[in-house]
Amino acid sequence: MILVTGASGALGRLVIGHLAGRLTGHAVTRASAPPAGEGGVVVGTRNPERVPAGAPVRRIDFDDPPSLADGFDGVETLLLVSAGYGEDDAVIARHGAAIDAAEKAGVGHIVYTSLSAAGDHLPYALAHRWTERRLRSGTAGWTILRNGLYAELLAALTPVEDGAITAPLADGRLAAVAREDLAEAAALVAADAAAHAGRTYELVGEQAIGGADLARARAADTGAAVSYEPGTLAQAREAFTASGLAPFQIPMLVGTYSAIAGGFLSGTGGELRDLLGRTPRSALEIAASRPD
Ligand SMILES: NC(=O)c1ccc[n+]([C@@H]2O[C@H](COP(=O)([O-])OP(=O)(O)OC[C@H]3O[C@@H](n4cnc5c(N)ncnc54)[C@H](OP(=O)(O)O)[C@@H]3O)[C@@H](O)[C@H]2O)c1
Repeated sequence: MILVTGASGALGRLVIGHLAGRLTGHAVTRASAPPAGEGGVVVGTRNPERVPAGAPVRRIDFDDPPSLADGFDGVETLLLVSAGYGEDDAVIARHGAAIDAAEKAGVGHIVYTSLSAAGDHLPYALAHRWTERRLRSGTAGWTILRNGLYAELLAALTPVEDGAITAPLADGRLAAVAREDLAEAAALVAADAAAHAGRTYELVGEQAIGGADLARARAADTGAAVSYEPGTLAQAREAFTASGLAPFQIPMLVGTYSAIAGGFLSGTGGELRDLLGRTPRSALEIAASRPD
């Protein structure tokens, strides 16, 4: 049995669909739930009402460690989707509780959605690296999926306002990845976990995208003129602060701009193509046409 945590989130939902397709030959819809039991997929979430009706669901909340023993009972492979929204100590406590409970429940293999090596400069890298270290020193088998930043995230960070993108990316570029590709990679690894035991995959995009690239692509997509006029980190911080975001979110977002602008996230050439066995989706098309 494979259990996917975070199943009501954007990545988890996509993973569930791919896993069900791989294991049963059909995608999950509201009417076609993945099979439960041995060899099947179980949906783990804090929000059962947000997952497809009929799917076998277990309540999984890393913030409620006592509940995890039952939640992981009988699970052979756990796809641990990072629960990265919080201060480092909160995220580390969540991931630590999940791994402790999985080991106690006898889960054989944990697949973890981490962050690309290039992301070491990002404010949220530390909790990912802590989790990787915890997995490597643990008793369960493991595979680490070092995900690059989503094309959908890049879209959200670069809104067009009054015909201009004013994000503080300077001349920096991001090797963004389609979330759907990362979900598919996670599903195929989870479906055959033993074949990926002890592997750490770098899953970044094949094209580095900058503000000017996005402006051109958005103009082509909409037919309206779009320019790129780089802003400053201070302006971005001020806007995020005024928007009422939680305090931990502001350095995360400003730090993401800063790492892209500094040229730390532009490296291409990871293992996504090999893992998928096909050409990855175009991150530029997604970032230009599908703001998250
Ligand atoms: N690579 C990137 O560009 C990027 C961007 C943003 C985030 N991320 C990371 O990747 C993860 C998945 O991304 P996403 O796009 O699916 O984000 P999302 O749609 O915001 O989903 C957030 C996920 O966190 C889970 N979660 C939060 N608190 C939890 C807890 N206490 N216990 C268990 N699960 C918890 C949620 O699960 P339920 O609500 O279903 O329980 C949900 O799946 C995020 O959580 C974050 O760590 C990566």
